[in-house]
Amino acid sequence: MNIDFKNTLVQEKDIKQEFARLLPEIRTMQQTNSKDDRASILLPESSNTARILNTTKELGKIEYLVVVGIGGSNLGTMAVTEAILGRMHNLTKQPKAFFVDTVDSDSLNETLSIIEPELKKGRKAVINGVSKSGATTETIANFEILVSLLKKHCKNYQKYVFITTDYGSKYWELAQAEGFTALEIPKKTGGRYSVFSPVGLFPLAVLGIDIKKLLKGAFEMKQKCISQTIDNPAAISAIIQYIHYKTGKNISDIFLFSNDLESTGKWHRQLIAESIGKEFDNNGKRVFTGITPTVSIGSTDLHSMAQLYLGGPYDKHTTFVSVKKNKTELKTPAMEEYDNLVANIQTKKLSTIMDAIFHGVKTAFVKQKRPFTEITLEDKSEHSLGQFLQFKMIETMYIGFLMNVNPFDQPNVEQYKEETRRILSKE
Ligand code: PA5
Repeated sequence: MNIDFKNTLVQEKDIKQEFARLLPEIRTMQQTNSKDDRASILLPESSNTARILNTTKELGKIEYLVVVGIGGSNLGTMAVTEAILGRMHNLTKQPKAFFVDTVDSDSLNETLSIIEPELKKGRKAVINGVSKSGATTETIANFEILVSLLKKHCKNYQKYVFITTDYGSKYWELAQAEGFTALEIPKKTGGRYSVFSPVGLFPLAVLGIDIKKLLKGAFEMKQKCISQTIDNPAAISAIIQYIHYKTGKNISDIFLFSNDLESTGKWHRQLIAESIGKEFDNNGKRVFTGITPTVSIGSTDLHSMAQLYLGGPYDKHTTFVSVKKNKTELKTPAMEEYDNLVANIQTKKLSTIMDAIFHGVKTAFVKQKRPFTEITLEDKSEHSLGQFLQFKMIETMYIGFLMNVNPFDQPNVEQYKEETRRILSKE
């Protein structure tokens, strides 16, 4: 993964000044232990991949995987799945993966109507309920429906139900009581930082994704991102976004030039929104602060958002993400009769055309003095994804430190959850 900061429009002296302020936090990061809020950065070296791989092996052949979870409990898994297997993986690969999050009857019903006839034929489906708290309304409601379906059609259904949660939660206890397998989320690993724990690793392993390579990429990136030298990419990137935030650019757009990375953008949106959007700062002062994350897909969203990005208010910092090597190299055919529609595209690789568009956008951004950081992933492999996700998680922790907010809690999310439970108790 390569990161280019040359078009961020931030001065080096300002970066150096903030880097000095960030140094104590970097040192704390280096000494992080499992009791610390930053403990998720230890996952690439501490996660028990052997147990996860054995568990998936013991399952034998699986045709379907249903991940039931929401927010931090499924976004990371979705991001890695789609980046590696492709957005249309269910049409071409097995096991087929379904992500069930909100309580949308029609949507869940569609999933059930695909899986039920298959279960009747004796095909196998794994249900993985994921909830750190074990008490998220949507997750438990959907889980109940899916488990009852499995119970109806599969004799030894317990073997195929997995619950990923905190040790000792009520969900954990349910797994013990019902004979399901419980997978533990380390105490200090919060939802949006949990993709390298069993939250992400178990379902990804069921889908045949190489979790060891994912963690290797993450570990290598972590080493760079806790370095005390000024080439620490997560620190520099966090500082740049913080400086822009201070001067009124409080929107952070992640502009991904790859369809398969759309869910990675959504994963990042949650990471920034929940970690940085805070009512109170670390001193208890009411600040109502935050950076608003947005997700754009290139080149599609150039046809919906570019006018605003280039001509609208100076309130954004953009992170362009592109992929160096595609899995395929499609080319346009030699059809000269089409040349007068769009010239110079005959017999060209689609990646060449995409590169031209991408360079065009960057040039326009430079001309319009729109700041951007550029990230190039080598490819859409486990290793590259591991690097990128780890980079973004550590960057977010640093932004939290610079903005003096707690990047690990989400009190206002809890607020709506409690209200929901209160309303349901009256119905
Ligand atoms: O990142 C977070 O902490 C949240 O988005 C949670 O993951 C989300 O609310 C789901 O919570 P839980 O995992 O407890 O079901």
